[in-house]
Amino acid sequence: KVIIALVACGLLMVGENAFAQQTIVLKFSHVVASDAPKGKAAQRFKELAEKATNGRVRVELYSNSTLYKDKEELEALQLGVVQMLAPSLAKFGPLGMKEFEVFDLPYIFPDLQAVHRVTEGPIGKKLFNKLESRGIIGLAYWDNGFKVMSANKPLHLPSDFKMLKMRVQSSKVLDVQMRALGAYPQALAFSDVVEALKTGAVDGTENPPSNLYTQKMYEVQKNITVSNHGYLGYVVIVNKKFWDGLPWDIRAALTQAMAEATKYGNKIAQDENTAALARIKKTGKTAIYYLNDDEGAAWKAALLPIQKGMEARIGKELIDAVHLETL
Ligand code: LMR
Repeated sequence: KVIIALVACGLLMVGENAFAQQTIVLKFSHVVASDAPKGKAAQRFKELAEKATNGRVRVELYSNSTLYKDKEELEALQLGVVQMLAPSLAKFGPLGMKEFEVFDLPYIFPDLQAVHRVTEGPIGKKLFNKLESRGIIGLAYWDNGFKVMSANKPLHLPSDFKMLKMRVQSSKVLDVQMRALGAYPQALAFSDVVEALKTGAVDGTENPPSNLYTQKMYEVQKNITVSNHGYLGYVVIVNKKFWDGLPWDIRAALTQAMAEATKYGNKIAQDENTAALARIKKTGKTAIYYLNDDEGAAWKAALLPIQKGMEARIGKELIDAVHLETL
């Protein structure tokens, strides 16, 4: 019996050892182009992670929804078919995580510094904790930036949105935002937006310039208004079982790689958006408009009440806490 136990124990050790030597594959799926801010940060993470683990981890990047679209990727992560994603903060409502929609509230952040005070402080941490009950671990917040609006007509005043079909992400706040402007919101997966704009299934959309540029949405949108009415950013998430099951040294190396990739991504995001807008302008296909003070005030008058209107859904306490951080 002792001999059998010893042999079994030895086999177990060999087994464990063999596992330790195996390459750990980390599939990281996302919906944007590889040269969008998120795509670039993901690429940086891959390079840093593979280097720091001496190749013991192989990060497979799947950009542009090649593996999964918005909704499927979250399901796939929970099933453990992919290990890492970076969905926008606007995509957690369908998971029952309505709190993340606080980031979608129009005009809640005056600038990226204010966003970072929230994401890097206790609020950011609290939101991460909420993910764990869904079998998900939050690793980082990544910026894209502030959104512009686009259509095939000038959008100067809220009344210009009347009857327009506007594509939104799957966030109740964004749905309400478009309705407040008199438009009809249409929730669509990111990968379907260009086609929907092309065929006229929707008339317009909102996104930071980097997404409009890298998806070539500007080719089918004659007008862009630089409204900066809301923020779009991401949460990098991993499957909890996968993460908790990693050898500790690998987990530590990946944590460090993520911290560095986050620093890099958040450093380039704003410049990427400025450059994207300039590139769109250079194509001559899309007129770019900046709101004057009166128009800006009219947009705010239409959209600011949403912060109060969404208290019941998102939580007044959370909205107030964000306000305190952004003063
Ligand atoms: C969108 O669906 O518009 C964005 O969330 C896409 C992205 O990931 O930047």
